[in-house]
Amino acid sequence: MQYTNTPIVSLVGAGPGAIDLITIRGLRAIRKADAILYDALIDKSLLDEAPANIPKIYVGKRCGKHYAKQEEINSLLVDYALNYGHVVRLKGGDPFVFGRASEEIAHVESFGIPVTVIPGVSSAIAVPANQGIPLTQMGMASSFWVMTATKRDGSFSKDLILASKSSATMVILMGVRKFLAIANEISKYRGGLTPVALIQNGTLHHESCSVDTLANAESLFKSVDISQPGIIVVGHVASEHPSFFEDEIQRVLRSAM
Ligand SMILES: C[S@@+](CC[C@H](N)C(=O)[O-])C[C@H]1O[C@@H](n2cnc3c(N)ncnc32)[C@H](O)[C@@H]1O
Repeated sequence: MQYTNTPIVSLVGAGPGAIDLITIRGLRAIRKADAILYDALIDKSLLDEAPANIPKIYVGKRCGKHYAKQEEINSLLVDYALNYGHVVRLKGGDPFVFGRASEEIAHVESFGIPVTVIPGVSSAIAVPANQGIPLTQMGMASSFWVMTATKRDGSFSKDLILASKSSATMVILMGVRKFLAIANEISKYRGGLTPVALIQNGTLHHESCSVDTLANAESLFKSVDISQPGIIVVGHVASEHPSFFEDEIQRVLRSAM
């Protein structure tokens, strides 16, 4: 137990995956940390940037496997700040994009401990960009909509329907397992020829991307490992992916044989 350093918590966005996509400010915070609490989807080599002798605690949540419940994470943040000083709470992407950052801030501040937020590069934008898919493009899409497809009870969100009825590019997080149902739902409002991309482990060495049309969602889904995190991009901009027209030509050729 140290009790010497002033308690403070920095919520740091670690970026979408690749270690060099964290911000300089985020990296500086890691280097000055007295303890680190980190999530799943963080490149573990980022932890090597921290002082060697500090506690580094994994508090990740992935696909229903909760290593720590949100309430436990909130309490750990306070305990470590009081006992060690500067706690870096390292979160995937940007802390405020589906990151439950507000709950952590409210809890920590209720103990009189100051919190700073260091923004991160969200996977919602970086992962499609890394695959050459622009979220907006003149004449194709003038807006994009970042969403999760389902509500806590598993039903489709109203936003999924509203976005499907619009011409916005749809960027759907946490939707891999329900990909087929999501594609089916969107098809009710957008044509079957609408391009769709599913990108997994974006910006990491084992990144993968499958592109097709909504009508071919089933065959696209066969190439997907549902245990891996992924982002679904729906809209004409997905056809900007280099392999989209190659695949389309193959399909046309096969159907002509
Ligand atoms: C709980 S949300 C957190 C998002 C994060 N705060 C952000 O701004 O990127 C986790 C979801 O983000 C998406 N995600 C995060 N990193 C990803 C990556 N490297 N490749 C693909 N999807 C990713 C997946 O949809 C995953 O299920």
